[in-house]
Amino acid sequence: MSFTIEQVKALVAEYPDFPEKGILFRDIFPIFHHPAAVECLVEHFVERIRSLDKRADVIVGLDARGFLFGPLIALKLNVPFVPVRKQGKLPGNVVSATYVKEYGPDVFDMQADSIKKGQNVVIVDDLLATGGSCKGAEDLVAKLQGNVILNAFVIKLVGLEGDKKLRAPTYALIEC
Ligand code: PRP
Ligand code: ADE
Repeated sequence: MSFTIEQVKALVAEYPDFPEKGILFRDIFPIFHHPAAVECLVEHFVERIRSLDKRADVIVGLDARGFLFGPLIALKLNVPFVPVRKQGKLPGNVVSATYVKEYGPDVFDMQADSIKKGQNVVIVDDLLATGGSCKGAEDLVAKLQGNVILNAFVIKLVGLEGDKKLRAPTYALIEC
């Protein structure tokens, strides 16, 4: 079976009041129950990234759900994948950035040798909410003198205006 991108979008599930009352949780995991849906999603992002004015040199994915498809996109583009992890999980020399989430500050790390000066980076994650996490990732790329050319998401929660925190443009498959 093959999937259209509209069928992939329809797989995203919604859970009211998870993980707490008042939050409508958007769950991308049903996409991963269908290999052909994953293939369609990844191809969609690959085409979007290939259409940019600049060539992407590196794909950066955010802990944890950005790790699901970031490496698949990087594989198809034949470029490196670099993880941004929550503090204390990465060995060796790391750069760190504090970012603000709904419930207070947190810290992201990235390995210091993972991006070279001047490289063009696309950041990928499942969802843009307040933009705090992605801003932290943008700050890490900037510390390594990389250049974020796009922040790409499956879902953007438009009302939270997360992209106002970000330097680079954003793209989302689903805006809601
Ligand atoms: C979620 C989501 C994004 C982030 C978006 O991750 O996967 O990374 O929140 O929120 P923001 O735009 O307000 O920063 P979470 O930190 O819950 O981690 P997880 O992927 O490990 O569940
Ligand atoms: N991360 C932050 N807000 C979220 C939401 N509404 N659904 C899934 N992940 C989230």
